[in-house]
Parts: sequence; C-alpha cells; structure tokens
Amino acid sequence: MNSVLVSVGAALPKKCVLNSELPAHLDTSDEWIVQRTGIHQRYIAGEDETTVSLATAAAENALSKGNIPPREVDLIIVCTATGDYTFPASATLVQRNLGITSGVAFDISAACSGFIYGLKTADCFIRTGQARCALVIGAETFSRIVDWNDRSTCVLFGDGAGAVVLKASECDDKGLVYCKIHADGSLANLLTTTGGVSISQNSGFVKMNGREVFRNAVEKMHCSLCDLLKANNMTVNDVDLLVPHQANKRIIDNIVEMSGLNPEKVVITLDKHANTSAASIPLALNEVSLDSCKNVVLLSMGAGFTWGEALLKL
Ligand code: ACO
Repeated sequence: MNSVLVSVGAALPKKCVLNSELPAHLDTSDEWIVQRTGIHQRYIAGEDETTVSLATAAAENALSKGNIPPREVDLIIVCTATGDYTFPASATLVQRNLGITSGVAFDISAACSGFIYGLKTADCFIRTGQARCALVIGAETFSRIVDWNDRSTCVLFGDGAGAVVLKASECDDKGLVYCKIHADGSLANLLTTTGGVSISQNSGFVKMNGREVFRNAVEKMHCSLCDLLKANNMTVNDVDLLVPHQANKRIIDNIVEMSGLNPEKVVITLDKHANTSAASIPLALNEVSLDSCKNVVLLSMGAGFTWGEALLKL
C-alpha cells in the first residue's frame, strides 16, 4: 500500500502587505528585506481570518480540485504552531467545517517542518490500513505570534494555508515513496517563543538566533537532500522539482549551490508569501504545475530543531 498525491489546494488572507507598507516604527527597508531574505510581500490575516478558516478554505480547494467529496476523507491532519485554540485541535474544527463526523483528526506541532511531519504521519496511517483518504494541511497565522516591534523577526513571516489530499493506492512506484523526519531538541533554544500556555499562559512571541538558524537550516536541508538522493539511487539531475521550506532565499541558494542542482528546478514562493512556516511547502506546491514532473523533492527545517525530506513520484 502506498500514498499517492491526488490534489493540492491553498488559501491566503485577503490582505497583502508589501515591504514598503510595513509599519514605519520598524525602521526597516524594502532593500534590506529583499537583499537579506528575498521577501517582497506577505499576506496577513484580518480579524475574520484564522488558522482554521484558512485551513478549511485550503482543504475545500484541494477537495474540489481533486473532485473528492468530503465524506471520503477519513483522516485530517493540521500541521500548525498557531492553532485557533489550545484545544480542541484545529483539525477537528476543520473536520466540523467540512461537515465530516467520522474518522480521525488531530494537529501536529513541528513548526516549519510540520507539513513533512504531517505527510509522514498520514503515510503511516495509509500504509497500515488505518486511513484511505487523508487531508494534510499546513496552516499558520504567524502574524499573531510575532512581535511587531522586533524588526529582526516580524518582517520574515506571513499567514496562509496549503493542503494536499493523499489516497491509498496499490501502485508502489508512485506517490510518497520516501519520507524521513528528524529532530534534535538540543537546539531548541535557537528558535522558540518567549512564552507558552504552561509557562506564561499566553503564546509568547517568536524569538530566534537568526545566524545560527540560518547555518543549521543550510546544513541540515543539504544533508537531507544528499541522503534522499543516495537512498533512492538518484543524482540531482533526476530531480524535476525541489520544493524547499520557504524561509529565506539565501538559505535555498546555498543548498542549491552546494548540491549542484539546476536553480530552474527550485520552486520559490517566499517572495510573495514570506515564511508561512508549516504552510510554506503546500502553498509552494500549489503554485506550480506538476504535470511534467516525475520526481518532486520536499525539504524542510524548523524549530525544535525538526527537519525532514520527502520524495513524491508523480
Ligand atoms: N531591517 C533593517 N535592519 C535589520 C532588520 C530589518 N528588518 N533586521 C535586523 N536588522 C539589522 C540588525 O539589527 C543588524 O544591525 P547591526 O549590524 O547594526 O547590529 C544587521 O541588520 C544585521 O543583522 P543580522 O541578524 O546579522 O542579519 P543577517 O544577515 O543574519 O540576516 C536574517 C538576518 C534574515 C534573520 C537571517 O539571519 C536569517 O534569515 N536567518 C534564518 C532565520 C529564518 O529564516 N527563520 C525563520 C524560521 S526558521 C525556518 O523557517 C528555517
């Protein structure tokens, strides 16, 4: 049994904020942000938009593109660090919004690596016969947990959601043929929040050591790519599309240069979306045509540290 990708969907908040439209008190500039990160704009959730509303819209989009009735879905995973409530899980609220009353629904917290953690988890459910049709959604409203007085973090993030539908298939040479996830909690302090429910009774704000996060992201995602290629008897020439986590263009450029991959095969959406954490990979997948692709590689790295790599054969 294997998990095949059936469809991809996405949803963005209505409001788009250009670098030049960021609050004046931040003392930043379009030039600094573009040069250091590649980000030109981000979408910011309005009062009527939340992680769950974006996740629901992305899920509906993916289901409609795949022509899949919601009642077929028996597993919903929402990958997020910015759920609507402490509980219930955002996934159960998406389930309710879709009118589904059976199956399994839960959230995964692995920060920017959440989506690959979600894919791996859904794949395990499918391979072991516990699910046949899974919605894996990355959805975030990081604009609600950044400190809008801290220019070193708030300019980097955006809000949005992306979703994929995975279905059980007997076809072993297609679908999620390889997926590995990793964690190293000794690096937790490099990227964290200033608070949390049990520590401060609030979510706190994003806090990070930018340089160390940058260095680790390049190193870990490059290693992930090399391991994936080796394990699947592939070279970079066999990769049709690389969809890396969209945090910083310079991180991606470094990985591409170190691996010798043709930069034209790399999907970049951070210029439009900024870093949407767990939503970044499915949002990026939604932007490209997968029609002529055979081998699609996904790479992620996030707080924890957590990281992961996946090979989708289409
Ligand atoms: N506008 C203008 N100046 C700024 C801004 C800003 N928004 N932010 C910081 N600066 C200033 C700093 O104060 C510093 O000034 P100083 O030299 O007078 O002290 C100067 O710019 C350089 O700051 P650095 O932090 O050294 O800049 P750097 O080149 O490392 O870039 C950045 C910072 C973009 C955060 C980079 O380290 C980075 O991208 N790190 C990766 C972090 C990341 O992507 N995290 C996302 C979550 S994790 C993940 O998704 C993988």
